[in-house]
Amino acid sequence: MSAVRTKFVILAAALAFLVAMAEAHSWADCVDWRFKDPKKEGWSTKDGECFGWARKFPVTSKTPFGDLDSASPNRHYQQNPKDFTSCSDGKHGREPGADETRQNPISKAYGGRYGTMASGKAGDMMCVRWPAKNHAVKNEKDRGVFISMPPSPTTSDPKQKDLDDMVIAKLSYKNCSNISGDTDHTPCGGCFKIPSDRKPGTYMVQWRWELNDNEWYTSCWDLKVDAATKTKPKSKAGCPANLETGL
Ligand SMILES: *[C@@H]1O[C@H](CO)[C@@H](O)[C@H](O)[C@H]1NC(C)=O
Ligand SMILES: *[C@@H]1O[C@H](CO)[C@@H](O)[C@H](O)[C@H]1NC(C)=O
Repeated sequence: MSAVRTKFVILAAALAFLVAMAEAHSWADCVDWRFKDPKKEGWSTKDGECFGWARKFPVTSKTPFGDLDSASPNRHYQQNPKDFTSCSDGKHGREPGADETRQNPISKAYGGRYGTMASGKAGDMMCVRWPAKNHAVKNEKDRGVFISMPPSPTTSDPKQKDLDDMVIAKLSYKNCSNISGDTDHTPCGGCFKIPSDRKPGTYMVQWRWELNDNEWYTSCWDLKVDAATKTKPKSKAGCPANLETGL
């Protein structure tokens, strides 16, 4: 190989690396993360476990945490400001991402090679986890992650401008369990409360991260809100009935 050619190859490799860095963008990796120990909450695999995933999330692909951006199709979806399609359909977008359209029935996006649908009760705390993808570092501004959820179950996904009026939480993007030396695979996350007025039913939920001004990435899932169980213990023989009501 000539010296000039070698230089070119090195330059091309450096460029490819820069592009790969620039394209390292995030997505919701788990949408029902539960901590193992409430006194030691964190986002690393040793700190918790996932119980719910976004639509059509390829759980059986065995891709290591934070690597689905190198999968085909990419998991990260960057909205195109021309249309701001709420959830990736695999076609629209600056970076189209993987298909996260609402399925009919909704359950078609879950089970088998996909993850389980998230569920909870009104008032429950839900936690979401995402990979830092080199953007939870000091010199980057934290514009936040917005969680949107409609006030009642919808028959189709709301448009982005409507979801903007349905924000139920703003999370810090940089709330991470740092892995020293690996700002790409560092796991991050945040928790929000299912609003206490949400009636039982299946709701769409959107995770929307602003990386740069008006540069947005989204992940979408369905959340089955179960009826809050009125915890009225069954009366046990010998227990005075009025103990149940606390009177
Ligand atoms: C994680 O690293 C970032 C900088 O990369 C720093 O701002 C943040 O405080 C660190 N978080 C923890 C919990 O150490
Ligand atoms: C930040 O992460 C910690 C776990 O490391 C979690 O306990 C906490 O709830 C998170 N904060 C927010 C605002 O979501």
